[in-house]
Amino acid sequence: MSELLGPNGQINSHLQESRRFAPPETFSSQAHVGSLTEYEQIWHASITDTTKFWRPIAETSLSWQRPFSKVFEGSMSEAKWFSDGSLNVAENCVDRHLAAGLGDKIAIIWEGEQGDQQRITYNELSQRVNRCANTLSQLGVKSGDRVAVYMPMVPEALVTLLACARIGAPHNVIFAGFSCDALAERIQDCDAKLIVTADAARRRGNDVALKEQADLAAQKCPSVEKMLVFKNTGSQVAWQEGRDVWWHETVDQASDSHKAQGFPSEHPLFILYTSGSTGKPKGILHTSAGYLLGAAYSTKMVFDLKDDDIFWCTADIGWVTGHSYVTYGPLANGATIFMYEGAPDFPNQSRFWDMIERHKVSIFYTAPTAIRAFAKWGDEPIKGKDLSSLRLLGTVGEPINPEAWVWFRDKIGGGRCPIVDTWWQTETGSIMITPLPGATPTKPGSATRPFFGVKPRVVNQKGEPVEAGKGGFLVLTQPWPSMLRGIWGNPERFKKTYWEHVPDVYFTGDGARQDEDGYFWILGRIDDVINVSGHRLSTMEIESALVEHPHVAEAAVVGCPDDITGEAIFCFVSLEKSANPSAALKDQLHEQIIKHIGKFARAKEIRFTEQLPKTRSGKIMRRLLRDIASGAHRNQDTSTLEDHGILEKLREQEQTPA
Ligand code: WT7
Repeated sequence: MSELLGPNGQINSHLQESRRFAPPETFSSQAHVGSLTEYEQIWHASITDTTKFWRPIAETSLSWQRPFSKVFEGSMSEAKWFSDGSLNVAENCVDRHLAAGLGDKIAIIWEGEQGDQQRITYNELSQRVNRCANTLSQLGVKSGDRVAVYMPMVPEALVTLLACARIGAPHNVIFAGFSCDALAERIQDCDAKLIVTADAARRRGNDVALKEQADLAAQKCPSVEKMLVFKNTGSQVAWQEGRDVWWHETVDQASDSHKAQGFPSEHPLFILYTSGSTGKPKGILHTSAGYLLGAAYSTKMVFDLKDDDIFWCTADIGWVTGHSYVTYGPLANGATIFMYEGAPDFPNQSRFWDMIERHKVSIFYTAPTAIRAFAKWGDEPIKGKDLSSLRLLGTVGEPINPEAWVWFRDKIGGGRCPIVDTWWQTETGSIMITPLPGATPTKPGSATRPFFGVKPRVVNQKGEPVEAGKGGFLVLTQPWPSMLRGIWGNPERFKKTYWEHVPDVYFTGDGARQDEDGYFWILGRIDDVINVSGHRLSTMEIESALVEHPHVAEAAVVGCPDDITGEAIFCFVSLEKSANPSAALKDQLHEQIIKHIGKFARAKEIRFTEQLPKTRSGKIMRRLLRDIASGAHRNQDTSTLEDHGILEKLREQEQTPA
C-alpha cells in the first residue's frame, strides 16, 4: 500500500471542488435535524459519551424482549453492545408494526421486469415471514445454523432474510451475479446447511439460471442438506429428490403463526462476504441488536425518513446496502420500500423514471456508477417524466465525481432535492460519514461529516493525524453499534486486517483527506481491491482465476479508471513457453474470470506480456502496471525495476491493441 503514498507518507490528493449547496429551507424546516448547529451539538454529545448517547435511542427505537442494562463492553476489536438484552430482529421489522396499528400499511411495493407488480402490507409480510420461518424449522434449520441465500430481487428474498433472523439462523447472502465457484467458496467457508434459491432471475428479458449454478456449487459443498427453491420465472430446472423442495409446496402451505423468540443482542444475524486484498473473501460477521440499531437509526436520520415516504434503494440484497437499506433499516422503521427486479434499461432507458413516477418514490438511493450511466444516456429518457415525488437523493459505493453529482442534482432532483453522499462499508454495517439532508451544506464529491457516534480521523502510516488538506488513511477511533464483530472462522485475519495498523482504532482500508471545514473526501482504496461499479473485487481472486488456465504462467490484475464503472479490471498475463497469444485465448481467459467470479467481473482489457515488471526481489511492480493501464505516463521511480525493456513493450501495445 505504501506505493500510493507521497514522499512524506501521505496520499496525494488533487481534486479541488469549491461549489457549496445549502440544504433548502423548505427541507430543513421539516427535517429531523434542521441546522448545522443542531447537528454539531448532537454529534459532539454523541462522541463525548457514546454510552449515554446510544442508551435512550436503543431503548426507544427497538423493541426488546429482555431490556439491556449495559450499553457497551469490551474494546474496539472485541466489542459487545447491549449484551444482557435480548430481542428478535424480525419481530422488530414486522410484528411490532402490526401491534402499532400499521398492519394495513404497505411494506413492499415490488415491480418485476415484465411489469408485474405486488403491493405487500405489513400484515401480509408478517404471514409470509412466519410461513417461511416455520418451513425453515421443518427443514431442520436451527438457531445458529447458517443459511445461504442466492436469490433474485423478489419479495421472497426479503422474506427469507427475515425468516432466518426470526429463528436465529445467520444468513449468508451471495449476490446472484456470482457464479458457481464463488458461490461454492462462500457456502463452504460458513458450512451452510440450506441454500435458498430460485429457478432463475430476470435480466433484460432473459432468464438467468440460478438453481443450475446452485446445483453445481452444492456438489462441492458437503454441508448442504437441503435446497429451497422459489419458482420465479418458471424455467426448467434439474431436481434432486430428497434434497430439493419447492417454495410453493412448503412455505406457501405452512402455518402463518409463529412465535418470535428473543435472542441475545450479540447473537449472529448474518455473514456477508467481501473481498480483501489477500486470500479468500472475508466473511464479515454482524450480530443482532447493535446492527439493527445502526441500520434503523441511520435510515431514519440520514434519509430523514417520514411515515409517508416511499423509499427506493436500488442495491441488490447481495451487497450490504441491500441488507441495511433495502431490508433491515427501512423495515425496522415501518417504512414503505420500493423494490425492482430487472435492468435499468429494460424495456428502455426510461424504466427507472417511469417507476419513480408510477410509485411516487420520494427517496432514491443509488450508486455513482448508475448515475454516470444515466448521464451518458442523455436527457431524452427523462423528458416528460414526473419526478416531483422525489424529495431526497442518495449515493453510495464509491467516490462520486462532481460532474455526476451535479447532473444527479439538476436532472433527477430538479435542483430541489438534497443529496446524501454516504460513506460506509460492509464492515461498518451502516452509514458512517454523510451529510444530514436538512442540516449539512454539501460539496459535490464529499461525503462531508461524520454521522452521530462516529469519530473518524485521517492519519499517516504511524497513526499520527495529518493536517487538513493532506491525504492519509481513514480510521474510525470509537466503537459504534453496527460494527463488524469478526471474520467468520478467522480471528487472526480479523485482528490483522482491521486492528493492527494503528493500535485500538478501526482501519478502513480507504484513503481520505479532510478539508479546512472538516469535510471528508474519500480518495478510494489503498489496498489491492478494485471497486467496480461500487463492488469490491480483489485483484488476487481475479489473478488466481487467470492462472488456473493451463497456458497462463503469471497474471497481475490492476484497476484502471472507467467513465461508467469508476474502476475497471485490467489484466496483464504472461504465458507458458509453449503457448501463443491469440484472440481465442483471450476469450478463454475472459470466460475463466466469468466462471470463477461472475459476469459482472468482466475485464476491460487482457494484455499479454512476455514478462511482468518485477523488482530484483521478484515482487510485481503494480504501480507501474496501474500507470500503463490508466494510460498515464508519469515519471515513476523505476530504480528497483529489474528489466527496463518490459515497460516499453507493454506500452507499445497501447497503439496496437490485440
Ligand atoms: C468501500 C466499501 C457501503 C456500501 C457499498 C459498498 C467505497 C463506499 C463510498 C462513498 C467514496 C465509498 C469505499 C469503501 N465507498 N461508499 N460514499 N464515497 N467511497 O460496500 O463493498 O463494503 O465497499 O466502498 O472504498 O471502503 P463495500
